[in-house]
Amino acid sequence: MNSNDFYTIIFQWVLPFATMIGLYVLLTKYLNSVYERMDIEIIWKRVIQIAIVIGLLTVGWYFITHQEWFKNAVFYTKSGAEWVGNTEQAKAAGQFANSYWQRFLQFLLYWIPVYFRAFVVVWVVSTFIYIRSLMWRVSFIRGANIIISTALVYPFLSLKYLFGYQTPFFDFLQSRLLIAKLKENLNDSYFKAIQGVDDKGQKFEAGIGGTVQIQRYKATAIAIKRTRAKVTTAGGSRRAELITKNSRETDTDKLIEQSLQGFGKRLVAPSIRFQDNPILNADRGGFVFDSDVSYKAGDELGSWLGIFSNPLADGEKISNGGQGVFHAIKNLYDGVFKYMLHLSPVAVSERLISRAKELFTPDRTLDNAKYVAQSNLDLSLIPKPVDPETGNDKETQMKIAMKVAQERISEVTNALNIFDISGVFYKLMVGGNTAIYEYTLTRTADLPNDFRKLQEGLSQILKTKDLPIIEVKAGKISVAMVNGVNIPVDFRDMIQNRKKGMNTIISGMAGVDALGNNIYVELGDMLPHIMLFGATGFGKTVTIFNIAYSIMSAVDPSMLRIQYIDGKGNSFEFMRNDRNHPNPFTYAQPANASGDIEYARALLKHFERETRRRIELFGEEGVSKLAVYNQKFPDKALYEILVICDEFSAITDLDKTLNYEDSVEYGTVDTFEYIAKMARSVGIHLLLANQTARKEKVPGRITANIAGRVSLKVNEPIESDIALPDSKIPVHLIQQAGEFYSTLNGIRNAEHGNSPFLSDDTMNDLNDGLTKKFGARDYVVTREEVMREIYGDKFKEEEAYNYDIPDTIPNAEASIDELVETISKYPEWAVANKDSAVFTRNKNVNADNLKERRENKKIIQDAIKQVTR
Ligand SMILES: Nc1ncnc2c1ncn2[C@@H]1O[C@H](COP(=O)(O)OP(=O)(O)OP(=O)(O)O)[C@@H](O)[C@H]1O
Ligand SMILES: [Mg+2]
Repeated sequence: MNSNDFYTIIFQWVLPFATMIGLYVLLTKYLNSVYERMDIEIIWKRVIQIAIVIGLLTVGWYFITHQEWFKNAVFYTKSGAEWVGNTEQAKAAGQFANSYWQRFLQFLLYWIPVYFRAFVVVWVVSTFIYIRSLMWRVSFIRGANIIISTALVYPFLSLKYLFGYQTPFFDFLQSRLLIAKLKENLNDSYFKAIQGVDDKGQKFEAGIGGTVQIQRYKATAIAIKRTRAKVTTAGGSRRAELITKNSRETDTDKLIEQSLQGFGKRLVAPSIRFQDNPILNADRGGFVFDSDVSYKAGDELGSWLGIFSNPLADGEKISNGGQGVFHAIKNLYDGVFKYMLHLSPVAVSERLISRAKELFTPDRTLDNAKYVAQSNLDLSLIPKPVDPETGNDKETQMKIAMKVAQERISEVTNALNIFDISGVFYKLMVGGNTAIYEYTLTRTADLPNDFRKLQEGLSQILKTKDLPIIEVKAGKISVAMVNGVNIPVDFRDMIQNRKKGMNTIISGMAGVDALGNNIYVELGDMLPHIMLFGATGFGKTVTIFNIAYSIMSAVDPSMLRIQYIDGKGNSFEFMRNDRNHPNPFTYAQPANASGDIEYARALLKHFERETRRRIELFGEEGVSKLAVYNQKFPDKALYEILVICDEFSAITDLDKTLNYEDSVEYGTVDTFEYIAKMARSVGIHLLLANQTARKEKVPGRITANIAGRVSLKVNEPIESDIALPDSKIPVHLIQQAGEFYSTLNGIRNAEHGNSPFLSDDTMNDLNDGLTKKFGARDYVVTREEVMREIYGDKFKEEEAYNYDIPDTIPNAEASIDELVETISKYPEWAVANKDSAVFTRNKNVNADNLKERRENKKIIQDAIKQVTR
């Protein structure tokens, strides 16, 4: 190809066509936005306004041009212009301009046909596509994507889309089909009645007569035959509706209803799921079957990620009637094909545009917010989460989970029907290990007060060993069931999707719901403290870390410091500033109450005193709360403090071991109560976690003063009532670690979600990242200072250990055998350090593989038990 050809291609073809396509896309985008905002009333107003203006102008023009002075003025202007035009200079200038003008004209004459050709081709084809996409009610770009690419690569598929599943034509056919099926469903007696014969085939005389019963049959048959049906597919859902007119007679109505019983169950149609039995709705004119199922033909084309799936992955193995490897390979080829489609120019441009939107669209949450969320965490340090059992990533698990859950929709609908709950299927969501089936309730829905029986019954009918969790809110009933496919939650997504504006400094997330929305935990004036409940092993500590790191991600340490206290272990040891991975937010050395209850108590007392100090200070300065104080004295600004106390009942329990005097001075229940009641205004906040919500363990004086609640699985029904009071959510039925309900946004507005999992390594990396960003920070107070502050002279320096300590303390990489050997060699040291980092941070004890982790933990526990005896 010589360079001439090249320029011809570029200038005669590529450029003109690209310009026209670009213009067309802009036009459709504009038309779409106009269409979306269209308001007939305003259009009428504008038309009338414009008509009035044009009318006035015409009248004015007519009036002015018929005036004598105007005619004179026109005459003089004309002759003046002629005179100027006749001068030498004007002629020379005219010629000069003319030559340019001519060249310009030539240029235009040459290029106009080229652009016109492009215009005709592009606009004709595109207008066709535009009309099609309007009929499909999808955007032009999506329509073009479907038609152009499929027509090029696979003509048959494009035909399918043109005449296929999403067109009004198909909807119409579908509605006819529904009616045909309904008629088919008619009882023989009805048929006979309508033909004027009785059950035995005897004709009535003169077409009338027969018993009252036969007359009813007749009325019923006519009513059913007159059923109206309508199917519409738009806005991402397919809505179907069958309405059989009711009569004015109760008995006939009963008969109609009877004959329609169970029709919904017998009906199989693409993306239509009726409830089993009709619902009488006078507003809509009779007995109604209706179905709303989300339906997006475009989704199929959007999921080109399929090409990265592995056909030999475990998830594709044949199990429980799954489709197996051949299906997976076919999917893979499908995926490749779809991927090719998505390389079409329009698809690429659409992606660029949506990316730009994501980057540059202002977040409205910033408008009224007090603080802007920073992004302090280096998210690249966090590995992509995978499902530990299968090793699949989030997207693959999501697909599998959706497939599994979809297969159960009709089963769940029927099970609800059996219990006389005739809701209309609304949507299906999957998240974590749960599938949530949501149904819209009819206005007259008669719900039981107690869902226990329903839960039992559903689990029997659905043959699940776990009880489903039923929740009713805002006219919807939702059934949450174990789905058997675990979708890991991605901490990175959670952080990236957070709203940019924050109303409080302490603003974090506990997890995400099944729709992928973040579940926020925001502590401030409105909600000063929260409590988190969860049975052992169900993810309290993990959830605490999620909340803590998402908070740290958004503010800097000059605004917030965090204190960690663990009632029964040392989960927070790695937040120490004198270890390998210091965290700049840490307030003081974390406390482990099981080994060092004195320090834990002293810390709590320290925060009680800090609260008093701040209250006093604010009193002197005449300010009411921290934000105001910081505004008034920016150079003496105080940070907020978040006190995280895991397993707090292990600490309050030990109050019983104090004698009377000491309990007055060091009792922790009083301290918690005081802080809960008084610390809000001075910016000190509590996050308390506990295994059980039982009254014997959790003092009412604390629960009564902390309204904010989040709950993972608890063990007993009675705990559900305490953990999430008045919400009626049976959190004791939760089966999975990391699944939780939050009532932080109101009891009537409970949020249900799953938390991501951050491994120890990841958290260490995040600490390093934070230190890199903010620099290392000293503790606000040292352990010794706290101890002296609270115990005064009673505090003595630690006594030396009087047992043997291993020469080399096993490091995090040490094997299990090595640990067991050290335990047997240095039993006293091992017992004293059983909760220390040596064991809890060990690679093998924390193996990635769930099974291995469990086994190794058990070996270590057994070895320690052995030497304890
Ligand atoms: N969101 C999650 N995703 C995946 N695994 C999780 C999740 N949450 C918890 N787990 C698993 O459960 C284990 C126990 O979690 P965690 O230590 O947070 O429980 P806990 O409620 O604090 O228990 P305990 O009361 O015994 O301290 C974790 O080591 C992890 O394997
Ligand atoms: Mg824990």
